[in-house]
Amino acid sequence: MPYWVQFSFILILAATGKAAVLADSPRERSCINESWRFTKGDPTNNTVSLLYDVRPQRTTPRLAPTESDSSQTSSKTAAETDNTNTPTPVIKQWILPTGNEFIKDPSRRFTSPSARSSDDVTYARPTFDDSSWQEINLPHDWAIGGPFTHAGGGGMGRLPTAGVGWYRKQLDISAHDAGKCIFLDLDGAMSYAAVWLNGHLVGGWPFGYASWRLELTPFVTPGGTNVLAIRLDNPPNSSRWYPGAGIYRNVWLIKSAPVHVAHWGTFVTTSGVSREQATVSLKVTVRNDSRQAAGVKLSTELFSLDAVGKKTPRAVTSITPANLQIAPGENAVAEGSAIVLSPKLWGPPPTQQPNRYVAITTVSQDGQTVDTFETPFGIRALKFDPNQGVFVNGERIELKGVCNHHDLGALGAAFNYRAAQRQLMLLQEMGCNAIRTSHNPPAPELLELTDKMGFLVMDESFDVWVREKTPLDFHLIFPDWHQQDLRAHLRRDRNHPSVIMWSVGNEVSEQYTGTNGAALAKELCDIVHEEDPTRPTTTAMNWAQPTNALPGTVDVIGLNYQGAGIRSIPGKYPAFHEKFPDKLLIGSETASALSSRGQYIFPVTNANSAPVGRNSGEDTSARQVSAYELYCAAFGASADKVFASQEKHPYVGGEFVWTGWDYLGEPTPFDSSRSSYSGIIDLAGFKKDRFYLYQAHWRADFPMAHILPHWTWPERVGQVTPVHVFTSGDEGELFLNGKSLGRKKKGPYEYRLRWDEAVYTPGTLKVVTYKAGKRWATASMRTAGTAAALKLEADRDKLLANGRDLSFITVTFVDAGGTPVPRADNRVHFDIEGQGEIVATDNGDPTSFESFESHDRNAFNGLCLAIIRGKTGRPGKIHITAIAEGLKAGTATIHTGLENN
Ligand code: GAL
Repeated sequence: MPYWVQFSFILILAATGKAAVLADSPRERSCINESWRFTKGDPTNNTVSLLYDVRPQRTTPRLAPTESDSSQTSSKTAAETDNTNTPTPVIKQWILPTGNEFIKDPSRRFTSPSARSSDDVTYARPTFDDSSWQEINLPHDWAIGGPFTHAGGGGMGRLPTAGVGWYRKQLDISAHDAGKCIFLDLDGAMSYAAVWLNGHLVGGWPFGYASWRLELTPFVTPGGTNVLAIRLDNPPNSSRWYPGAGIYRNVWLIKSAPVHVAHWGTFVTTSGVSREQATVSLKVTVRNDSRQAAGVKLSTELFSLDAVGKKTPRAVTSITPANLQIAPGENAVAEGSAIVLSPKLWGPPPTQQPNRYVAITTVSQDGQTVDTFETPFGIRALKFDPNQGVFVNGERIELKGVCNHHDLGALGAAFNYRAAQRQLMLLQEMGCNAIRTSHNPPAPELLELTDKMGFLVMDESFDVWVREKTPLDFHLIFPDWHQQDLRAHLRRDRNHPSVIMWSVGNEVSEQYTGTNGAALAKELCDIVHEEDPTRPTTTAMNWAQPTNALPGTVDVIGLNYQGAGIRSIPGKYPAFHEKFPDKLLIGSETASALSSRGQYIFPVTNANSAPVGRNSGEDTSARQVSAYELYCAAFGASADKVFASQEKHPYVGGEFVWTGWDYLGEPTPFDSSRSSYSGIIDLAGFKKDRFYLYQAHWRADFPMAHILPHWTWPERVGQVTPVHVFTSGDEGELFLNGKSLGRKKKGPYEYRLRWDEAVYTPGTLKVVTYKAGKRWATASMRTAGTAAALKLEADRDKLLANGRDLSFITVTFVDAGGTPVPRADNRVHFDIEGQGEIVATDNGDPTSFESFESHDRNAFNGLCLAIIRGKTGRPGKIHITAIAEGLKAGTATIHTGLENN
């Protein structure tokens, strides 16, 4: 069984499970995603200013700095430099202290003003009646249901993300919780969150991609009513892609004893790694929130984990116990290590296995356990060789990576474990082994998945620093928050074996702003090295020259489009390699090839890469790009051209393609569309032809062949209709209705077989491919008749009845003989019966403005999708029917259960 298929049988350990209580430990961690109330906008009678900070009034960015611009980096916020007429006061004084634990210099930490001027906000009052608000469960994205708008630019996805949203929830805090520390952990809220408990403004966090914690203890009434109110305030013009809106990741309530392992308080590193043994070192920070000094004992046992995360019954080893004396209100750190013999190493498939361990730390006081804390980790050795690339456990691993934004297509930004797993499974099937979390910290569970599945991750923090890309983006808060955001990101993610490097920024304008840009880069890299001395820093640079100061500040040089694309004549790899012989180079962003699934546009370029445009792969009026997979953004290159440039420079560690999946927003080259064209997989999760181009190259040992275009062209009889074949073989013979159109061989730096002179006549195309002269793989493509029926295929026919587990159902239009009808665009209506619900529908068409919540959807080039979930706690059957006028309906049955089976 291929390694990626195995994952489809792995049980989903839902990230949003019930309270996790470890034996003998007072620590409780409960997911509090259920039963929230939500409304948009502030109360109409509101008299209190709830704005985080003054905001500039501009809606267009300032002129971007030019390459020759070496002006000083401004330390002022844009709000200070812009003419603003926003009301004051602002609430940032109450929000800033939330980040104090991530500010290194105590003298720079913030103090909350004593008068909490916003306590009397109507929606924050515990007595406020919110019963008329919408009932929702988290994760929640208030914008994904639409409606789409035709107005303005398409950059942010044309969905209503901007504005204020309020969430309220009653917390379960019993009288028994008196004396405990109570924390609220938010994995991500978009954006400018402010949190009230029982009417008190407790704190918040502006950056929407950050995970953060608030201590609720002083405001809690144990045994009484405790009402949480969260206000988010999403600015317009704040992102280059769809940011989502709302509490779009998981939320947790933590209860612990006053003496406990601090927030993200463990750090595991491994050294001396070989097949025989490895040293595992653990640093544990313990916090004493009691009023007395505490003497504690720390002991840690290490266990091996299986593929689903279950630990083995017996510890493999333990770390020598340590004693700590902790003053009240202080932290203390214990360090220890242990040797693991014959370690099961973590590494990427298919040549290695992603084996994992867990460290279980017990804190005891006077013989009583006061805390137990789990830290999953992996044992692996990384090496970054400037001449040979990335090594994992001594094996050279070429980075076959993709960049992905955080949205999950029709589900929006609302994180869903199963949807993220589906994204990764398809990428792994393609041979992808690396992910760049462009351009922000991902959901924590994404890294749980990359750990389990064995992806290598470039974990990225920022898209902007001080210099803006859009008027209201992160640059507004960068001066106040970059240290807290970066340290929080590093402490959250540094135990994940899948994370192999930290990117401190993407294409920031500071890359060519003289020494001040470099000084800022150095400040960020120094923070990374302080928090994690084991991994390199990088930044993704599209315009930096080897002579600029910034590239010298990072450990790994990340170049965007500078091998093939923006700087292809000549590419910049050799110049950087020569200037920085001690630093590894990677293609941190490559390709930006563009296409619409299943859409073939004629004539076809003879080149191996061509910028898209009128008469160059574009159907301007339909706003579609040809799926011959030869066209790209003006600054980019086709996959073929990038492969060649990577192969010609073997010292480059690999590439991260822009992008693995299509995403909402940034619909280059048609700003009036809703979603991108750059994905290898479309927004609905259907494979574009490009998928097979990458598979052919990245899984060279996997016998496969793929023909394009489809072969149903009644209007092209007698016309030249080029046929291309993507295969992991090196040679192939193409047959049309049994007659050979010739045998072709890939030349040097060629990655596809082309029969550009083929003339269309209906029937069957068949290719027989060869590798090293031996028969390798075959594929065929048949002319379809008219659509006769709908065929439904569920990617899972068994689901957990928990409201989160999903089945993705593909509808294919077929003719009377069962051949897929490639250009069907019929309207489909979905009906559902039984214990399930339709969460969303899509078809992958970047020009579709139909709400994702609609149960009606046109097919796009023969396919459409419905996403189904089981009702919570209601096991049984779900029947889904897809109906299109005049055709035989399609059905699928899904079983939901209360337990994995
Ligand atoms: C890159 C940028 C990405 C995305 C891409 C569009 O330059 O880093 O975020 O904008 O272009 O193709």
